[in-house]
Amino acid sequence: MTGRLDIDSPQGVAESFEHTHGQAIALQQLGYTLVEAGLLTPEQLDASRTDQENTGVPLDQIWVDRGWVKPETLAYFAEHRLSSQQQVREVPPGLALMQMITGMWVTQSIYVAASLGIADLLQGGVRSVDELAQASGAQAPHLYRVLRALASVGIFTEVAPGQFGLTAIAEYLRSDVPGSLRALSRTVSDTWQWNCWGDILNIVKTGQPAMQRLYQVQDTFTYLTQNPESGAIFDDAMTGWAKTIHTAVIDAYDFSGVQTLVDIAGGHGMLLASILAANPMLRGILFDLPNVVAGAGPLLEQAQVLNRCQIQGGSFFAAIPTGGDAYLMSHILHDWGDADCVRILQNIRQAIAEQGRLLIVEMVIPPGDTPHFGKFLDVDMMAIFSGGRERTAAEYQELFQAAGFQLNRIIPTAAPVSVIEGVCA
Ligand SMILES: C[S@@+](CC[C@H](N)C(=O)[O-])C[C@H]1O[C@@H](n2cnc3c(N)ncnc32)[C@H](O)[C@@H]1O
Repeated sequence: MTGRLDIDSPQGVAESFEHTHGQAIALQQLGYTLVEAGLLTPEQLDASRTDQENTGVPLDQIWVDRGWVKPETLAYFAEHRLSSQQQVREVPPGLALMQMITGMWVTQSIYVAASLGIADLLQGGVRSVDELAQASGAQAPHLYRVLRALASVGIFTEVAPGQFGLTAIAEYLRSDVPGSLRALSRTVSDTWQWNCWGDILNIVKTGQPAMQRLYQVQDTFTYLTQNPESGAIFDDAMTGWAKTIHTAVIDAYDFSGVQTLVDIAGGHGMLLASILAANPMLRGILFDLPNVVAGAGPLLEQAQVLNRCQIQGGSFFAAIPTGGDAYLMSHILHDWGDADCVRILQNIRQAIAEQGRLLIVEMVIPPGDTPHFGKFLDVDMMAIFSGGRERTAAEYQELFQAAGFQLNRIIPTAAPVSVIEGVCA
């Protein structure tokens, strides 16, 4: 790279990138990088390639014009070329593998910083490790070693010996930023998830889920109900995750014909609140376990949609609220095995109007070696849930059919999730 890219305008990004690299091949590689990072879907990459061939408009211009990738994201990736595949190509294979094997060192160091709230403490500017340790209840020499290691991979920066500040990446560990990933780090490395991943070889060899063996619970959500602290961290992470995808779903799906949208297992209602806020004529019903919806009021109130939203507690294995003409389920089916998914979908089938729409928000696993965030998330589902999995389009089709639905279409979004639309068969 010869200098920073101009990220002020999409045009600027396109020109700067073209100017700096001067060829379409670099843009193709950048496309793979974005797909690998889950920021562009394989379908979007294919569509943009076809467009590029037909119109001659550069790929990055197409991604930005269509609102699939933000100019600043593009500029960041163009500059840093953060593709693991590219890194594999650019570093000796042994070193590449070593970085992957020791990836958990980074994961757990981030967890320490996330749990101690280090990024929040640095919000006001650079602070010494002694101050950080005192404010977070840690040992300064030990904390220093963790922060120094994190700074070596771009998370925090040591601006002077023992003095740390935030970086663009570390900003996402703050609690109060849009798209905060602090809760995600805390739940991914929470002891129960860590223990499940510790059992992964056993899971693969026996086919038996870890949660039942390690914690003697029927399913993960029973564990989270019995362990409210872990449950609260998990719920916060899900709310953060919903925040990152809700705009993409709202942009991709036209809710204008819907009158009452029922969000099944909607957590604290983050996604439903965003959809209601964007569609002022729409009414909503938020449904989740009673202990979960008990905490939903403030979020719906803050989004100023509580007056258009009913909150109902219950189990989707027992009965689903009636009265909706669209039933949304975001990141639920991937928690469960096929038999449980069919039970849930059959219960929705009983509640839904004949002309109703089923809207499943999930990742759709692409075939072959195509990079997709969902491929490792699928292994995570295997580790931490009893029967959880990510699925291909054909596998969703089978679930729908078994429950009396027909898969109508799959709408990709700017996030690595799609809206899988079903109608009554
Ligand atoms: C992965 S979270 C997804 C939350 C939300 N839909 C989203 O996309 O952010 C799974 C949700 O399923 C809910 N859940 C688990 N078992 C349930 C049951 N039997 N009935 C209703 N909801 C349940 C959990 O409480 C949790 O909120």
